[in-house]
Amino acid sequence: MSVGSTERLTIDVYYDAADQAATMADDVRRGLTAPQKWLPAKYFYDERGGELFECITELPEYYQTRTELAILQTIAEPLARAYGLGDVVEIGSGSSKKTTALLDAFDRAGELRRFVPIDVDRAMIAASARGLLARYAGLQVHGIVGDFMRHLSHVPPPLGRRLVVFLGSTIGNLNEDERRAFLRDVRGLLGPDGRFLLGVDLVKDVATLEAAYDDAAGVTAEFNRNILRVVNRALHADFVPEAYRHVAFYNREHDRIEMHLQPETAQLVQVRNLDLRVTIRPDETIFTEISCKYTRETAAAALAEAGLDLAEWHTDPDGKFAVALAARSVTP
Ligand code: SAH
Ligand code: TRP
Repeated sequence: MSVGSTERLTIDVYYDAADQAATMADDVRRGLTAPQKWLPAKYFYDERGGELFECITELPEYYQTRTELAILQTIAEPLARAYGLGDVVEIGSGSSKKTTALLDAFDRAGELRRFVPIDVDRAMIAASARGLLARYAGLQVHGIVGDFMRHLSHVPPPLGRRLVVFLGSTIGNLNEDERRAFLRDVRGLLGPDGRFLLGVDLVKDVATLEAAYDDAAGVTAEFNRNILRVVNRALHADFVPEAYRHVAFYNREHDRIEMHLQPETAQLVQVRNLDLRVTIRPDETIFTEISCKYTRETAAAALAEAGLDLAEWHTDPDGKFAVALAARSVTP
């Protein structure tokens, strides 16, 4: 781990290029040799991936970000008043743009002390930390560059009452096993009286959902192909990203969007660092991401399974997106 620190800013790095290359080597070997080829979604987010994701959040089809922001704006003051939250941990924080709606309210309430963003994208953490230090005069920022499936144990203990936030429906990108382990870890971060704020995208008509993951301008397609560029760079592979179609569809059985990459013609790919050659036929795909959609019931059940009680459920007037507030249940 390396640490950078000034008076109000600390950044701990648990996930760097070398670490990424090592875990990616295992992941990519497993993924590309499986019957259904796949690549883990966390590799979307290099610097370019982070930028493309920011573009996605502004697309007309991608209603999630602005809808979630509107919900956060309406609940920020009441949350500040009800709980006096001064220690905010944001997991998969990205630009933390929406989070300022919360931090502003906590700051006005005189409670805000520390912000702890966690993300694999180091550039994003550094940039958002700079912005937040300038925005809030007394704030401490303790950034953690790490994988939220592996490094949550490095989050410092709560400084007063803590709010853990996990926005953008990133929980939808975890499979069931990952989600279970992740929510258990979150429970451990809360301390006795902390709260967990979770953004989830809701089950709705298929056309709206599919458009959100297959926009007219092709930004999501570029984002999807970016994972191949990341693998090329880290493992000296020779994927030709332009040779793959972006495929996104709603799987009704599992209430989730699936994103795949499908080659137009057979691709022979060499991954030099793995000494691996694979052929990807035009009738197969590389499965790159899921985005699970929730109802109040399925969200409450996922929380309950991890020892968390759903305490509040806030949606927009059209019921597109929800922000859930949870606390530790008495019985673990
Ligand atoms: N919270 C922001 C960003 C959501 S995009 C929002 O709501 O708009 C998902 C974010 O999670 C990205 O910034 C990405 O870099 C990060 N991320 C994805 N997988 C991760 C992992 N395994 N560990 C840590 N961060 C991860
Ligand atoms: N977690 C968000 C979602 O599932 C954002 C996201 C992750 C996303 N990967 C994506 C959005 C790929 C579009 C395409 O919606």
